[in-house]
Amino acid sequence: MARIIVVTSGKGGVGKTTTSAAISMGLALQGHRTAVVDFDIGLRNLDLIMGCERRVVYDFVNVINQEATLNQALIRDKRNENLHILPASQTRDKDALTKEGVERVLNELSETFDYIVCDSPAGIERGAHLAMYFADDAVVVTNPEVSSVRDSDRMLGLLASKSRRAELGQDPIKEYLLLTRYSPQRVKLGEMLSVEDVQEILALHLLGVIPESKAVLNASNSGTPVILDEKSDAGQAYMDVIRRYLGEHVPHRFIEQERKGLFGRLFGS
Ligand SMILES: Nc1ncnc2c1ncn2[C@@H]1O[C@H](COP(=O)(O)OP(=O)(O)OP(=O)(O)O)[C@@H](O)[C@H]1O
Ligand SMILES: [Mg+2]
Repeated sequence: MARIIVVTSGKGGVGKTTTSAAISMGLALQGHRTAVVDFDIGLRNLDLIMGCERRVVYDFVNVINQEATLNQALIRDKRNENLHILPASQTRDKDALTKEGVERVLNELSETFDYIVCDSPAGIERGAHLAMYFADDAVVVTNPEVSSVRDSDRMLGLLASKSRRAELGQDPIKEYLLLTRYSPQRVKLGEMLSVEDVQEILALHLLGVIPESKAVLNASNSGTPVILDEKSDAGQAYMDVIRRYLGEHVPHRFIEQERKGLFGRLFGS
């Protein structure tokens, strides 16, 4: 039985796909057989960030419509054999995903994988609803700004009431907060909410804080999940997230503004 993780948010463009790519690769790096599924029908961002867009032949909707088998559609990552990608379709038909179809695909994936990471589209429409409906865990990606926090709060309501676990009266989906694009400098200037501010509003278990980082854009331009950039701050922060998710105690980093050394204080701007 696989554990199903949905990477979700209320507001769009906060870093879900970046996070889905990073945590699925991170779990694979830790030896777990992992599938990452793109629920963002019509957009197909995940395969670009994973660097496998030219290898897409069949997609999620083809499997749901039984035009291809799961095996035909799954793309095996070239860097890590534990990781497989199920790309989204470019169809304009947002209703192409059905609850029965999604359930069948997730059940089949569950037979061979330890973790299934679902990259949700933004908002609360069908794709987003189906991405979270079958989840065991939810990573709620939030930026440190009021509109993102407010929309995350709305998403928490849906996770608690509109999931399979809620309908069957099972234990609720485990919710984790992931703060992304965090800039301690801007928090200090009062331009962004602090970690404490966000936690006070959402009252969620903090899985990690990913700093605002140029490494993310470089990584996505080269089709590499940023977690493989071990020297980068964002890559290290995502690796910490994986270790925490898997139960290790790892202190949070990248929350405080970096102190300049003596040299920096004397000569820096
Ligand atoms: N930690 C970060 N530092 C800098 N830029 C980031 C960071 N995380 C994400 N970004 C940038 O933010 C933009 C949106 O990221 P991404 O596509 O992952 O968001 P999304 O939530 O999946 O968006 P959508 O809701 O459209 O699916 C991208 O340009 C990405 O490079
Ligand atoms: Mg996305």
